[in-house]
Amino acid sequence: MVKAVVAGAAGGIGQPLSLLLKASPLVDELALYDVVNTPGVAADLSHISSPAKVTGYLPKEDGLKGALTGADIVVIPAGVPRKPGMTRDDLFKINAGIVQGLIEGVAQHCPKAFVLIISNPVNSTVPIAAEVLKRAGVFDPKRLFGVTTLDVVRAETFVAEITGEKQPSKLNIPVIGGHSGATIVPLFSQAQPSVNIPSDKYDSLVNRVQFGGDEVVKAKDGAGSATLSMAYAGFRYVVNETTLTQHSFAEKVLKAAKGESGITEPSYVYLPGVSGGDSIAKATGVDFFSVPIELGAGGAEKAIDIVGKANEQEKKLLEACYKDLKGNIQKGVDFVQNPP
Ligand code: NAI
Repeated sequence: MVKAVVAGAAGGIGQPLSLLLKASPLVDELALYDVVNTPGVAADLSHISSPAKVTGYLPKEDGLKGALTGADIVVIPAGVPRKPGMTRDDLFKINAGIVQGLIEGVAQHCPKAFVLIISNPVNSTVPIAAEVLKRAGVFDPKRLFGVTTLDVVRAETFVAEITGEKQPSKLNIPVIGGHSGATIVPLFSQAQPSVNIPSDKYDSLVNRVQFGGDEVVKAKDGAGSATLSMAYAGFRYVVNETTLTQHSFAEKVLKAAKGESGITEPSYVYLPGVSGGDSIAKATGVDFFSVPIELGAGGAEKAIDIVGKANEQEKKLLEACYKDLKGNIQKGVDFVQNPP
């Protein structure tokens, strides 16, 4: 029996993500937690004829405990999104406390669950989660993931617009680093199959992958950030030679937990706690970093080191990434260790 929880389930990302998880044959029980509207979202989803039993929880009557108890996987898109002109870091003040509170609940009620953090700024909210779990003595780095898949999805789409690839998700373009501006580093040199980016288009393409989220925030004009493409990123198509299959990040983690091998997903993880991560931490000078992760029964089994494969142009991008990322990580750690 697999119990999945979405915290922030009534929001722009939370609702479509909950829908996708309700549709998943891998989920037996789906608990929706939010500070508002979960009874309605749960009632709506419960009419879908897939097996998962759906329940909605609010903070009253110990709702967080009810939602989290027995959870195998907790996906967190709770918090405020950006408005035009804001950076993800501007969200820190509000979202840091929200993530801290939810992770305290995880530490208490489902310390062994896989935790997928979507709430921004991911660069800082994942270190916050790690600190909270460490304090509670239940931190397992293999079970904590920052969701950066949308950056890869954007890279595939924007590259295909240049190369003319008709099936953009066939492109496999590693995007490493963090999930904000200059910390997002696409490694076009490592694309599979290889891609040819004309040199006069390189800078603007990198910029578009790094700041693609701003396009959506601006176009929505105050009414939110990327919700639908984010939900898709959580449930993207994986194309192989003959089949077109769909897996959400959450489903991939669950499949790997059940013993399926060969599953990878990019994610922002605590490197020293994941096999292969130490050498990447040494090379980058940061403990939290997004690279392709091989998933296994225990969660993040192996961090795949592609940092060393970056070409000269990409190395320059990486230098800028490390600088910003260090500050973002420290901010998250300080938030828990020396509360404001
Ligand atoms: P939204 O405002 O539509 O939804 C957020 C939901 O969180 C709301 O329903 C709100 O009631 C709920 N919430 C607030 N405090 C809560 C608490 N203490 N416990 C449980 N739920 C709580 O926002 P949206 O667009 O869904 O974005 C959510 C987050 O995801 C934002 O921080 C946004 O920046 C981030 N995001 C992350 C992406 C990624 O690639 N990792 C991509 C796009 C957005």
